[in-house]
Amino acid sequence: MNHTVFEPALLAGIELKNRIIRSATHEGMADAEGFPTSKLRKLYIRLAKGDVGAIITGYAGIQADGKSPLFAMTMMDSDDRIPAYREIVDAVHEYGTPIIMQIAHCGRQTRSKITGLQTVAPSAVRDAFYSEDMPKELSEENINEIIDNFVLAVVRVKRAGFDGVQLHLAHGYLLSEFLSSDSNRRKDHWGGSTENKYRMIGEIFKRAKEQVGDYPILVKMNAHDGRKNGMKIDEALRIAKMLEKSGCAAIEVSCGVVEDGLYTTRGEKLPADAAMAYNFKYKNIPGPIKAIAKPVLRTFMKQPKPLLKFNLDSAIQIKKAVNIPVIVVGGINNLRDIKDIIENQAVDFVSMARPFIIEPNIVKKFHEGTQTKSKCIMCNYCAIIGEEEPLRCYCGKLPKRKTA
Ligand SMILES: Cc1cc2nc3c(=O)[nH]c(=O)nc-3n(C[C@H](O)[C@H](O)[C@H](O)COP(=O)(O)O)c2cc1C
Repeated sequence: MNHTVFEPALLAGIELKNRIIRSATHEGMADAEGFPTSKLRKLYIRLAKGDVGAIITGYAGIQADGKSPLFAMTMMDSDDRIPAYREIVDAVHEYGTPIIMQIAHCGRQTRSKITGLQTVAPSAVRDAFYSEDMPKELSEENINEIIDNFVLAVVRVKRAGFDGVQLHLAHGYLLSEFLSSDSNRRKDHWGGSTENKYRMIGEIFKRAKEQVGDYPILVKMNAHDGRKNGMKIDEALRIAKMLEKSGCAAIEVSCGVVEDGLYTTRGEKLPADAAMAYNFKYKNIPGPIKAIAKPVLRTFMKQPKPLLKFNLDSAIQIKKAVNIPVIVVGGINNLRDIKDIIENQAVDFVSMARPFIIEPNIVKKFHEGTQTKSKCIMCNYCAIIGEEEPLRCYCGKLPKRKTA
């Protein structure tokens, strides 16, 4: 049977109105304790009213030392969080829209200044971007504790009524750090071979399935992380097969790590103004140095290419390797491409992040034929300013009160 974009579709048993998904996008809309706020509920309702096929939430933390360095991350680290999420899920379900929670541990891609705790990683290897902290190598005991905390979070996500859970295995966060030989230099049974690097994820699936049975556990994974000694597509294909064997319900395909700047979230130009005004590494440097640094950064920091559909080739390869649904994200911004991807059955679903920030109702506009292309200019100010502010579109302009 041919796939069509705007017909109901099943994703791991979850019923979607169409094949366009909102990819996980950190919202920065938790309260000071990490509970979701009414602002977050309103955002999800706008997405649901806008006919999105399914919502994947921004990443939620599974334990305190893995909290995001970005503004106001939601947490899923204790049972008392469940009622607040349940309320949001129920509100979204009123529109017939499924909602899946993404859960994560940020590993070494966070800051002890934010978490109040030492950063941790598979190996004590300093991250080039989050370079102020040398992460502590996790012990066997620590690893088992993190596995158990992922499992507890999966159970909570199910109890809160979400339609599924997505494990964040991409973008250089902890589980992705385990998968990459660039960050995982371990010599024990958690490092070395692909089987060893995958062991932690395999354990999460095994222990979670004992608790939640066939509840949909999806993943977002890198097809390649862009690092010289890191994960490449050949290894990603093997990992995708392992995931399928572990009972993974669907794979969303992405790429890159934060160390490499905007490899994951590509744009034509480096958002140097926003970085100078908001990023912890640059915002406190003196004005005259900033004035020199900005053009230098813009000229010499090469932006990865292509800008559009940049994970499609990898997703097609992964789709050929497995029998579970595959979702592709990254630089998908127009209806013609979406139709082409879905109708030619290259992959099963498409997901977008930035197009939904500027237009939460973009799917409705596509469906009604009033618009065929996203208004997002891929300036990436949203990604940079998310360090200090809740998610919104800036359309390439700094808020008035800030200067770079
Ligand atoms: C502001 C912002 C926040 C993001 N937060 C997350 C996140 O919480 N989890 C995740 O897996 N990806 C996150 N991403 C990456 C996106 O899900 C997506 O993979 C990337 O932006 C490429 O898709 P796009 O071209 O449709 O934006 C974020 C991206 C942006 C711009």
